[in-house]
This record gives sequence, structure tokens and C-alpha cells, in this order.
Amino acid sequence: MKVGILKETSLNERRVAAVPETISKMTKTGTEVLVESGAGENSFIDDKEFESTGARITLDAKTLLSEAEIILKVNRPSIEEINGMKEGTVFIGFLTPFSSADIIKKLAERKITSFAMEMVPRITRAQRMDALSTMSTVAGYKAALIAANACGRFFPMLTTAVGTVPPAKVIVIGVGVAGLQAIATAKRLGAVVTAFDTRPAAGEQAKSLGADFVAMDVAHDQAEDAGGYAKEQSADFYKQEQELIRKYSRDSDIIITTALIPGKQAPLLITEEMVKEMRPGSVVMDLAAELGGNCALSEAGKEVIKHGVTILGVLNLPSTLPVHASLLYAKNILAFLNLILPDGKSLKLDLNDEIIKGSMITHNGEITHPAFKK
Ligand code: NAI
Repeated sequence: MKVGILKETSLNERRVAAVPETISKMTKTGTEVLVESGAGENSFIDDKEFESTGARITLDAKTLLSEAEIILKVNRPSIEEINGMKEGTVFIGFLTPFSSADIIKKLAERKITSFAMEMVPRITRAQRMDALSTMSTVAGYKAALIAANACGRFFPMLTTAVGTVPPAKVIVIGVGVAGLQAIATAKRLGAVVTAFDTRPAAGEQAKSLGADFVAMDVAHDQAEDAGGYAKEQSADFYKQEQELIRKYSRDSDIIITTALIPGKQAPLLITEEMVKEMRPGSVVMDLAAELGGNCALSEAGKEVIKHGVTILGVLNLPSTLPVHASLLYAKNILAFLNLILPDGKSLKLDLNDEIIKGSMITHNGEITHPAFKK
């Protein structure tokens, strides 16, 4: 079986879908690995390093696509890349299927079997393949660092000859994977952290990292769905939540927002009025900017200053830490590959397997995933 690793083509994408450590594991089981020349250069991995693990370097994407039977990538393929794939090729990567109707249609037309890493169900057996979580870990860490960098104040308490500087006050809204890492990083930098989440279960985790947790008045069965994810709340609830956060945001230096309801637009939790009340020089880091934003003033992909507050809508944070983001993603991908290529040589697609069924988008000329059939 020939597995190909394509170079990413999206603007500002620095990650790569396989690293020497994961390629060695593939070649040891007899898998042939092809890497497009330069695929690792933005993650500081040169072609020679890939070659030393038994991979073969191909000069361009066209050559790789004409040979590979399984393609690994970080981002979704372009139409041109899909056209270059052979019928029956397997594609694995982040497909952003909710906003890629044209790509999905093309994958089906070209009879490509495609898997979307973001659709891998968050079940225990799939933990090693949970690329959303590994990438959110990177994003939460980087969110705290970037916010600290943009803030006009120190994070830690400092005692100097001219007086004591109090520690920064950081609010983290949404204590999921990204939020927990943002809390941990802000704490390590010395800030005082207060966390908010609609799921009471998140409280223990936030507290275990040294944050204060502000619980919301939502009964447990209403806050979470059966899978443990936050449930969408009423407009009235969000209004009450804004009022609650407002009591703390007035007196905070940094707000990091990560509130997400899977498959929905991000809930609006920081209004313009709340930003106006923050101290000049404060920062709002909105991780949900791409999904509409948790802050009314955030703009996806931009840094704006409004009412003296810097509002950051940075996108693709994992790409800003390419070495470790690539390593973690490559390990997620390898775990997935081991599921469909258990002996390294022949494809085994158990269409009743929960992970395969949940993440497969197209197969045999059809859109197979019920969420995208229409
Ligand atoms: P997650 O699902 O693990 O966590 C989201 C958390 O938000 C959950 O704990 C949930 O209970 C909480 N939440 C939902 N509604 C809330 C509300 N009204 N108030 C307070 N908390 C609420 O998601 P994860 O993986 O941590 O991702 C968080 C966000 O970060 C997502 O919007 C994701 O798209 C974004 N993200 C952004 C990146 C970037 O580069 N900008 C990279 C990775 C993730």
C-alpha cells in the first residue's frame, strides 16, 4: 500500500500530516510512504529527514497523487488535488465538511473514500485519533501566550523596589479542551484565573488547575447532552450569563473565550457594552471567532482595537506552533491509519465500525455520511 503525504497549500498553514517518527512506524510495517518535496519545511523537517525514515520524496503533488493509494493531509484537498487522485483513493484529513459542499460532491464524483478527522467520534477507543482535541490543546496554550503578549500588563505579581505589581486577572469562558489549556498556561504565567462554563462538570477540572469557577444556574441534565457536550441554551439564558460574566469582566485584564456548542454558531457572551467597561489596555482573545465569535466585536482573522481593548480573532492557532502541532496531528493520523490499514499493507474498511462510520464522508461514489447527504 502506498501512502502519500501532500504539502499543505492553504495560506499560513505550517503543519504537515506526518513526521519522521510516524513515517518510521509506517515503513516498518511494510507501507510504502511517499512525501511531496518540501511538505515538512514549515514544520522544520527537511526532505532528507523524511528519506532517512524510509520515505520516498516525490517532486510535486501531481506525481504523488498519481501513485498514492491513501493520501494524508492536514487541510481539505483542493478541487485540483481531487482531480489528480486515482479512483478509489482514500483521503484522510480535516475536511471541514459543514462548509465544503463542493469538495464533498467532487470527492464522491471521483469515487474517493474520504474521512474527516473532525468527525471522529469522541469515544474512548478513538481518543488517540481525536485531532480536534490535540489541536485545541495547542490553541488554548497559544491563546494564553498571544493574549499575554498583546496585554499592556504583566501576568505575574511582581515585587519591585518601586512597589508591587498585582497579578493579571484572566477570565476563561468555556472549559473544554482549549479552555483548560488556556487556564493552565495563564496560571503558569502567574495570572489569577476565573473560569465559566455551563457544564457543572467543568468546575472540578478548572479548580484542579487552580482557577476559580463560577457556576451557572443550570441543572446538570439541561447543561449537557448524552455525549457530555454543552447544549444550546435559550436567548434568555445567554442574557443572564452575560450579566453574570459582566460582574467579573469589568475588573479583568484578559478574557479568553472558547465557548462552543458542536455544530452551532458560537454563543454571544461578551457584548460591546461589556468591552466598553473593560480597562483600556485589556485584551479579548476570541477562539470562537471563526464560528461567529463569543465577542460581539471580534473579527475573524483580525486584531482590532475597540474602546481601548485589543480584540483578537486569530485563526488557525495550531499552525503557529508547527513542530508540536504536526507531531500531535501526525500521531492522531497514524492511529487512524492503523485502524484502516492494520497490517500496513491491505485496506480493511469495516463499515459497521463506529469510528469509520462516523468519520467517513464519501465512499464508492456516494456521500455516505447522513449529515452531508443533502
Ligand atoms: P470543547 O467542546 O472541548 O469546549 C467548548 C466548551 O465551551 C465546553 O466545555 C462547553 O461546555 C463550553 N460552553 C458552551 N457554551 C457555553 C456557554 N454559553 N458559556 C460557557 N461555556 C460554554 O471545544 P474546544 O475543542 O475546547 O474548542 C473551543 C473553541 O475553540 C471552539 O470554538 C473551536 O472552534 C475553537 N478553536 C479555535 C482554534 C483557532 O485557531 N482559533 C483552534 C482550535 C479550536
